[in-house]
Amino acid sequence: MNNCSQAPQTDDTRAAASRYLDSWNASGMDWDEWMDEVGRAKAEFSALIGARPTDIAVFSSVSEATSAVASALDLSSRTKLVVSEAEFPTVAHVWLAQQRRGACMSWAKVEDGAIDPAEYDSLIDDRTALVSSCHGYFMNGFVQDVARIASRARDAGALSFVDAYQTVGTMPIDVRALGVDFLAAGNLKFLMGIPGIAFLYVRPEIVSDLEPTVTGWFGRANPFAFDNKALDWSPTASRFDMGTPPLINAYVARAGMSLINNVGPANVRAWLEILGQRLIDGGRARGLTLHGTNDMARKTSTTAFVVSDSHAVEATMRARGVLPAARGSVIRLAPHFYNTIEDVDRALDLLADVTRAT
Ligand SMILES: Cc1ncc(COP(=O)(O)O)c(C=O)c1O
Repeated sequence: MNNCSQAPQTDDTRAAASRYLDSWNASGMDWDEWMDEVGRAKAEFSALIGARPTDIAVFSSVSEATSAVASALDLSSRTKLVVSEAEFPTVAHVWLAQQRRGACMSWAKVEDGAIDPAEYDSLIDDRTALVSSCHGYFMNGFVQDVARIASRARDAGALSFVDAYQTVGTMPIDVRALGVDFLAAGNLKFLMGIPGIAFLYVRPEIVSDLEPTVTGWFGRANPFAFDNKALDWSPTASRFDMGTPPLINAYVARAGMSLINNVGPANVRAWLEILGQRLIDGGRARGLTLHGTNDMARKTSTTAFVVSDSHAVEATMRARGVLPAARGSVIRLAPHFYNTIEDVDRALDLLADVTRAT
């Protein structure tokens, strides 16, 4: 029940890690095949979000991807960054760090665990350089209408950045329909992967205007020209690539994302709506205090309950065979496509039992 934090290992992801280790052991170096696997991982990610493989850059974390985006911003005429209070801290930290470059922060407020979409309307204006809004809130799974936010940003001449770490793999996503300029996600949550790899979508129409100063040799038109005096830019999102990509992570990431693509994000979402509703109703029936919205149409399956000591509750539940995800004042239960109604009921029973006892 910990998929909002780290999904479990699967036979496929374990086998993928072994394939890399075996290849390394057998061949010493199989560079072209390793690079191809990174390309296949980009392709799996692009399929999950309705993009093309050439629209995707690879990083080691969302923090790194966000930093590269920040470094490409021109803050000379527009200085305002509109940032949601629901951002995962690392994303907000990258924007805060831009204050040294003259950026001014403007926050879209979280109230009762959610953000009123109209919040953005009053904040976005002709001084706005970029609007940063997470798709799913890490605390409680609240989902923002990022199409609406991106449209407001575009109308004001600003760029839009979306952290979709908590939603990719839980629902169909179509970046073209959403109209966002950037979308980033890591791999270890609902994509069934591991730490150390993350992906960034860059809208192809804006790529040629962007020159990130956080860069490296894989961002070049031809990295293998080995020309250390030429800062030429790849014509695709690859200009955001950094150095040697995380290889074993790419093997595992591709296997995890392929699982989700094979199940189908629409099928995943249909099942998660049932499990999420079960969590909301079951929590209410057991007297648990929900954090955030009770409207399944506005959330992922991640369902958070307010507890007095979340880490103590997590430790006790873990010892009794259920792994939840503690975060601040809440315990999150985050089932995925492989979970059953019985898993959800068992987790709720245990959470109710443990909170009664503490
Ligand atoms: C929404 C969201 N963004 C970002 C992160 C972390 O990003 P990074 O890959 O930089 O550790 C997390 C959790 O780890 C998250 O839940």
